[in-house]
Amino acid sequence: MSKDVYTLTSPEGKTTELPVRNGTMGPRVVDIGKLYREQGVFTYDPGFVSTGSCESEITFIDGDKGLLMYRGYPVEQLAAHSSFIEVAYLLLYSELPSADQLAEFEESIRRHTMLNEGMLRFFNGFRYDAHPMAVLSAVVGSMSAYYHDTMDVNDQRAREVFTHRILAKLPTIAAAAHKLTAGQPYVYPRNDLSYSENLLHMLFAVPAETYEINEVAAQALDLLFILHADHEQNCSTSTVRMAGSSGANPYSAIAAGIAALWGPAHGGANEAVLRMLKEIGTARNIPKYVAKAKDKDDPFRLMGFGHRVYKNFDPRATIIRDMCHKVLAQNGQQDAPLFELALRLEEMALKDEYFIEKNLYPNVDFYSGIIYRALGIPTSMFTVMFAIGRTVGWVAHWREMIRDPNGRISRPRQLYTGSQQRDYMAIEKRG
Ligand code: SDX
Repeated sequence: MSKDVYTLTSPEGKTTELPVRNGTMGPRVVDIGKLYREQGVFTYDPGFVSTGSCESEITFIDGDKGLLMYRGYPVEQLAAHSSFIEVAYLLLYSELPSADQLAEFEESIRRHTMLNEGMLRFFNGFRYDAHPMAVLSAVVGSMSAYYHDTMDVNDQRAREVFTHRILAKLPTIAAAAHKLTAGQPYVYPRNDLSYSENLLHMLFAVPAETYEINEVAAQALDLLFILHADHEQNCSTSTVRMAGSSGANPYSAIAAGIAALWGPAHGGANEAVLRMLKEIGTARNIPKYVAKAKDKDDPFRLMGFGHRVYKNFDPRATIIRDMCHKVLAQNGQQDAPLFELALRLEEMALKDEYFIEKNLYPNVDFYSGIIYRALGIPTSMFTVMFAIGRTVGWVAHWREMIRDPNGRISRPRQLYTGSQQRDYMAIEKRG
């Protein structure tokens, strides 16, 4: 019996040999491409728990070991030694850059941070209290109405221009969305600042006074962007791949990813964690909320806990939790009680049989909001911050998908459970 095939036998005894494919690391896959043609059946896997959607060289996660690697480099090493711009280069171009390559890449990003002035008028069309994720997805989608010259997905030069433009302008759009809801004037980017320094400047500078960049805050943001940069075929990245597979322009594909990220089960969880911690209020209320999370009849879940892939600690959560101590020591003592509450909640949940049996650990969203809040970033902007980090991962996957010579439009099938065929009935004959 060959070890490189799975033999599937139908109830009627018809067999199909399904080839096995080996990756560099992680589980092998069974290629079921010919299943429907030979057996007349579809596989069925809502939520894609056991389904690989593509081949990718970008990121690898081992959920049992709590391992996350970008292009083979463990995220802990990149967090300790790299910068977000360097990690962005790595994700996009597969290798760590030379000093000259990094300088050229960073300079290109710095010089594309301004928005077309016409796009700024867009912001005036939103209600003053619009959620910044709604603004972000709308304005990024509108980029396809401004940058016609980078819409040919088959043109390598156009793909490069798009890549640099979207990375450079995302923070500018994000900051403008914040200024809209803060009722403050939009702040133009500065080419003399680093990626994270520029974002802080655009978020918090006001015309009435000079703004001093807080270097601890800039370093914390840079680290958070590294940790959020990519994560295999998560919901929003799969959405970008799906949208891009039809040949849609890349700005629209990224806007689709932003929309998917907004959900509380995904990137919206960091905002939901802060709301949950405020609702819990004090440590003596923790048992009540842990009980609610365990109650099948209660829709409440401990936000920031659990993960489809990690059945061990999310390595990003561990790094962010350690960073909380540093940021709060310098920036946000007033948020120390919130952090203490989060630590107590983690401690009590991880001792609870339910969480142990279901392998529910804190994920990337559990502690990140505490840092954002300590930096003065409003809760409604937390998922926007996630999107700023994740955009480079979405772009890297979009580029990989577009360049795949075997690429096809993504079009899943279904199990139909609706009505049998029936004839139209005139309204006067209906019951
Ligand atoms: C992100 O995919 C990625 O990589 C995402 C991400 C990325 O970088 O892109 O890592 C970012 O989205 C992190 C996840 C943020 N979301 C949350 O923190 C929301 C709270 N967590 C969940 O709702 C849930 O854990 C998910 C959505 C993260 C995972 O859902 P799954 O894999 O579909 O797991 P499940 O819902 O089937 O849960 C398995 C069991 C269930 O119990 P049973 O039906 O088996 O009895 O665990 C329970 C769930 O009820 N469970 C929880 C829980 N999470 C799962 N119970 C209480 N609290 C929770 N948080």
